[in-house]
Amino acid sequence: MHQRINEIINDGIAGLFLYEVETLLMHNDGGKTDIMNILLTGGAGYIGSHTCVVLLEQGYHVMVIDNLCNSKAESLKRVEKITGKKILFYHEDLRNPAGVDAIFRQNEVDAVIHFAGLKSVAESVDQPLNYYQNNISGTLVLCEIMQANGVKNLVFSSSATVYGNPETVPIDENAPVGAFNPYGRSKLFIEEILTDLSLADKAWNIALLRYFNPVGAHPSGLIGEDPSDLPNNLMPYVSQVAVGKLTELRVFGDDYDTPDGTGVRDYIHVMDLAEGHLSALEKLASNPGLVTYNLGTGKGYSVLEMVAAFESASGKQIPYKIMGRRPGDIPVCYANPSLAEKELGWTARRGIDEMCADAWRWQSINPNGFV
Ligand code: NAD
Ligand code: UFG
Repeated sequence: MHQRINEIINDGIAGLFLYEVETLLMHNDGGKTDIMNILLTGGAGYIGSHTCVVLLEQGYHVMVIDNLCNSKAESLKRVEKITGKKILFYHEDLRNPAGVDAIFRQNEVDAVIHFAGLKSVAESVDQPLNYYQNNISGTLVLCEIMQANGVKNLVFSSSATVYGNPETVPIDENAPVGAFNPYGRSKLFIEEILTDLSLADKAWNIALLRYFNPVGAHPSGLIGEDPSDLPNNLMPYVSQVAVGKLTELRVFGDDYDTPDGTGVRDYIHVMDLAEGHLSALEKLASNPGLVTYNLGTGKGYSVLEMVAAFESASGKQIPYKIMGRRPGDIPVCYANPSLAEKELGWTARRGIDEMCADAWRWQSINPNGFV
């Protein structure tokens, strides 16, 4: 790179000089590539906002499209506070083709990370059309507009839910898939749509990232998970019990075939997950076609182990009551994350104590979330 800069200086092409140096530095910083301008759909949400931090800190230019149906613009202001960098935010619904197309025309976009979607399993059972409409139509609009604008690098937020009830654990990417609720099926259908797209046009580079159970928060305590209603997921529920907003945790089942009878999951720190997106973007730059990775830690913890870890991180007692099993829950789910390690050079580094400490810092500083 330095030799190239010298050549430009020696050539005396003054006008080109600044532009070229800036471009070269940008494109070679830390081994990065020419994928620099990243559009995040759903970037104001939980995982998206943490990914914004990681990308901005690595020098990427970040744009966000979000309709704020499950998030607040304040999350992005906090990201700017953490990083000291600006985000270009568009308050827009992904299903509005004219609005989304205008954003692509106004900006240089090298890659898209597609977080936008509805994510509650229970709500998806009650409102299947809403889930299919939002998740699938949103993705179709996005891909059509990307194609029309010549943008063919895409990272998609998939989920371990596509494995349904796994036959064996740890789960690797070749395990059979088969979701059993509308939310999970929407993820599976999108994976299939994106697979067909990559088969039809080899110019597409697509990473399907199957997240396990994201928890925790940025260590600053400025951003974190902010459920708009009663939390569905374990760790936000535990946090709200600890802060006094909810009285006790309901533990759904203690009669599973697990060491303490409660369900076992692969909890992954949201900052590790965010860093996984950075690695996936770097992978896309090598034109891999379609790739699929589990993003998990490879370790499973039970509900009661997570409660104990949270109690010691927070110094708060978490009262709980054992209930019957929650319909649709599986006993055990954890990843084999070795493919991501081998091909992306990525592994989750943070353990459950750090997950709980960071979740508690966020919850205790912001008892009412971003409000
Ligand atoms: P989130 O709800 O916090 O973020 C999703 C964001 O998308 C929100 O900000 C929401 O306002 C936005 N959005 C939804 N529909 C939109 C639309 N039509 N147009 C524009 N914006 C829209 O959820 P999250 O936890 O950050 O999850 C991000 C993605 O990861 C989702 O696709 C989710 O299904 C997937 N995922 C999440 C988990 C998890 O446990 N959090 C696990 C596996 C996969
Ligand atoms: N649990 C409780 N009490 C609660 C909430 C959960 O005991 O109040 C238990 C569940 O029964 C389960 C474990 O805690 O054993 C984890 O449950 P979560 O709801 O936190 O997470 P799930 O594994 O059920 O599902 C989550 C997301 C899905 C996603 C999946 C895999 O909600 O969307 O992780 O990524 F697909």
